[in-house]
Amino acid sequence: MKYMGSKRSMLKNGLGKLLLRETKRFDRFVDLFTGAAFVAWFVAENLDKPVLAVDLQKYATSLAQAVIGRTSQLDSSEIISSWIEKSAQHRNSDSFWLEAVAHFNSLVDIQEWVSRARDLCSIPSGIGPIWSAYGGHYFSPAQAITFDYLIANLPKESSKREVCLAACISAASECVAAPGHTAQPFQPTNSAAQFIVEAWKRDPIEYSKKNLIALATRHAQVLGSTITDDAANVIPHINSTDLVFIDPPYSSVQYSRFYHVLETIARVEQSINVSGVGRYPPLDDRPQSQFSNISQAKPALIELLKNLAERSCTIILTFPSGPASNSLSGDYIKQVASQWFTVEDHSTISGKFSTLGGNNEIRDARMNSNELILLMKPR
Ligand SMILES: C[S@@+](CC[C@H](N)C(=O)[O-])C[C@H]1O[C@@H](n2cnc3c(N)ncnc32)[C@H](O)[C@@H]1O
Repeated sequence: MKYMGSKRSMLKNGLGKLLLRETKRFDRFVDLFTGAAFVAWFVAENLDKPVLAVDLQKYATSLAQAVIGRTSQLDSSEIISSWIEKSAQHRNSDSFWLEAVAHFNSLVDIQEWVSRARDLCSIPSGIGPIWSAYGGHYFSPAQAITFDYLIANLPKESSKREVCLAACISAASECVAAPGHTAQPFQPTNSAAQFIVEAWKRDPIEYSKKNLIALATRHAQVLGSTITDDAANVIPHINSTDLVFIDPPYSSVQYSRFYHVLETIARVEQSINVSGVGRYPPLDDRPQSQFSNISQAKPALIELLKNLAERSCTIILTFPSGPASNSLSGDYIKQVASQWFTVEDHSTISGKFSTLGGNNEIRDARMNSNELILLMKPR
């Protein structure tokens, strides 16, 4: 799945080698801002160290748990019949599904098609949250009812349930009629109409199956765990035997605004209230990060680094080198961190990995780099 600020490509580009080399020296790897969990998965799959993945959002820790919470492969063919095929069977005999299929096959005028989709999904289905909250907006009625049946039929057994939930979250992020994230759905305007048609044609069953097959083969070498909470609250459980990875937000817009559809799936609730063009849940239900608040980001960063320094933690931190919209910048982070840590710059430069700690090349290298990778060792 696409994720804002994902480190997936950087793992192949120097960050991965640094993480593996450093984590070997510690007892555990802690990913404090795990996001789409690419980093947590990478370390858990490649090293015999437990991984703790933390995020404010449940969808993020659900993605992490699907791989780091298991030490062997799962049989995806068995889960396809017990979960996906069962969900499809139940759905197929629902009268709302028949109406959703009739709607899907009736595209003549896009504005009219979207409007009828919204009318249909305004009738409560009683199956799950996606139909009423997002049907006719982010998803077609046919997709919405399919996701609701997939959620309602998630397996009971925990490791199967976790992998299916993650497959469903990834499928939703791939099927959604929105630009890369779910802050606003596409509207049936002349320029965006084609994107709605393309997105609404994607079959959640096929996308869930694809993601399930991919996830079921992946697992950790050593069992890890997840915590859905503010990173600040987890620091008392971290110490000098942990290698801590920090990849904080750099946007002044909350992640919970961009990814609320995925959060709704991860929470597995029966129904939710939404409002506005973006179909947002109430603010109280959307986790707020100090790191995505211009006036709070600097104090939050200072507190985080100070508390980790007090616990003698070693940190690897990534951040864009220039100023970010949340008021932080790589240079500011370096300056703050150097009060308590020896900071080595391991930034990626022009697609190449370079360890530049402490020599005269730092200045030029930093200017060419767009993402800093800092290794911070307690003084
Ligand atoms: C830049 S993304 C991490 C991307 C991740 N490393 C990846 O490769 O997919 C930042 C993440 O921090 C999370 N976050 C924001 N504030 C947080 C906080 N105070 N504690 C824990 N997680 C937080 C957001 O929900 C978001 O998923």
